[in-house]
Amino acid sequence: MKRAEHRRRARAAARWGLGLLAAFVLHASALAQAAAAGEKSPDKDSDYTWDAAQGEKLQALAAKGDATRGEISFEVCQGCHRRHAQGRPDGSYPRLAGQHRSVLIKQMTDVRAGRRRNDTMLPFVDRHVIGPQDIADIAVYLSELPVGSDNGKGPGRDQAEAEQLYRFQCVECHGEQGQGDAARFYPRVNGQHYRYLRREMIAIRDGARGNADPKMVEIVKPLSDAQLAALADYMSRLPLFAPR
Ligand code: HEC
Ligand code: HEC
Repeated sequence: MKRAEHRRRARAAARWGLGLLAAFVLHASALAQAAAAGEKSPDKDSDYTWDAAQGEKLQALAAKGDATRGEISFEVCQGCHRRHAQGRPDGSYPRLAGQHRSVLIKQMTDVRAGRRRNDTMLPFVDRHVIGPQDIADIAVYLSELPVGSDNGKGPGRDQAEAEQLYRFQCVECHGEQGQGDAARFYPRVNGQHYRYLRREMIAIRDGARGNADPKMVEIVKPLSDAQLAALADYMSRLPLFAPR
């Protein structure tokens, strides 16, 4: 019994080791390719094409949002995203409260433009959201809502390995505390529901989300479902911080 458990653990550790190694090699080769193509490092440059702000997105980003109007517009969304945009702990609907304004605008306009596929929500953001000003209003209202630590968490498996992987591969964009980066459209991931985070990472890895940062796609491509689940779990447990 004891030996079997020991073997199981050794096998699991080997799998994680291999995954980390593969991730490292891929990361290094992606960086080398970027350097060869004369790209600037993502640390110093936010000049990406995947997040090109044009049309409605650009107008919404430039508009000054009004949280009171946004609250009224958001009423139609509460059936799914719940009161105060807390989402559901089972992850079926994400928490929107406290997310960066820029990220919310990008995601809403990407869904409206069909860049991020979301068939259940499309009729709502298509018919009920009127235009850039309305989008800006909703985004500012949501970004200012408080976030609790009562989000859905995972089963707590492989957390030491997940921390190592997160610090190595994800911190650069999503931040040490999962705070994201508003200026670069990197979402905040702390305080979010575990199952939603897990679903999104799988969708991004498998190319099903449509609008994701290609740099993140490269990084998650070699990771297994188990590794993505452990990472989602890790992010769901990150301590909350004051977003601004
Ligand atoms: C019928 C249910 C439903 C309604 C109504 C709905 N949404 Fe959603 N929304 C979803 C689902 C499901 C997702 C997550 C999709 C996924 O898993 O990719 C989502 C995702 C989002 C996201 C992206 C969150 C993120 O972290 O990237 C934003 C922003 C959003 N919704 C805003 C709204 C707004 C604003 C409204 C009202 C105008 C609205 N939603 C109405 C179901 C809904
Ligand atoms: C180069 C920057 C970058 C790196 C590195 C990166 N991400 Fe992301 N991530 C993004 C961006 C940008 C998005 C939003 C994509 C979009 O616009 O649809 C995102 C989205 C996500 C989401 C969905 C959040 C939501 O609210 O819908 C999760 C979960 C996530 N990343 C986890 C990770 C994990 C875990 C890692 C490390 C293995 C990682 N990311 C590495 C940039 C990055």
